[in-house]
Amino acid sequence: MSLLSLKSVTKRFGGLTAVNGLSFDLVAGETVGLLGPNGSGKTTALNMISGYLPVSDGSVALGGDTISGLSPDRIAHKGVARTFQLVRALPSLSVGENVLAALAFRRNPLWGRDAEVRIETLLAQVGLAGRARQPADSLTYIDLKRMELARALATEPSLLLLDEWLAGLNPTELRAGIDLITSLRESGMTILLVEHVMDAVRALCSRCIVMNTGTKIADGPTADVLSDPEVVRAYLGVEDA
Ligand SMILES: Nc1ncnc2c1ncn2[C@@H]1O[C@H](COP(=O)(O)OP(=O)(O)O)[C@@H](O)[C@H]1O
Ligand SMILES: [Mg+2]
Repeated sequence: MSLLSLKSVTKRFGGLTAVNGLSFDLVAGETVGLLGPNGSGKTTALNMISGYLPVSDGSVALGGDTISGLSPDRIAHKGVARTFQLVRALPSLSVGENVLAALAFRRNPLWGRDAEVRIETLLAQVGLAGRARQPADSLTYIDLKRMELARALATEPSLLLLDEWLAGLNPTELRAGIDLITSLRESGMTILLVEHVMDAVRALCSRCIVMNTGTKIADGPTADVLSDPEVVRAYLGVEDA
């Protein structure tokens, strides 16, 4: 059975249809790329899956239960976590306190010593071992991204939504970032990854879904999708005749 199922999901902003009748399923354990040119509706799709935006039409189900219409908190409790295209940290707090804030929002909140232990485990998992006391506003860009991932993992998600998590990294950081996502994938997590870095898409995703102006234009094995003429045209911005 599919873990995530979108059926004709549509988002309208006034006269603009940002996502238009989007349907796809994710099987548990898959890592799938969600691709498309800027403005094609990728972030809006993640916002609807995670409940940050209500759907205008259609439905989203997780493990067979409808989740569209629920608040972001309720959807997080059901096992969906995400990162944001623009990292959302609490800059005046320490790294550990940032992760603690996420632990407190779990279905079974963790506090005190249990939380401390869990924070250390999460930080080690994302490559920030021993950094709990460091102020968040002193982190480098990649370390901020690592911290954001630790916050997402704090809720022990079954589905992780990554919105350009690898964007803006240098080649060494990119390699480390790909390895980190690979380790999550190998732990059995289901991942939907919005990404422009094609090396990362090829390394991580067995399957890709491509959107253009709100509509799904391709869905299949990564190599097939990336060589699809319609996908290539969409990326080059050439209009269909
Ligand atoms: N909150 C919003 N209000 C109005 N328009 C929006 C909003 N969010 C996104 N859009 C528009 O929806 C379209 C898709 O945006 P987005 O989902 O961010 O694309 P992508 O992530 O693929 O670059 C764009 O035209 C964008 O300007
Ligand atoms: Mg986006």
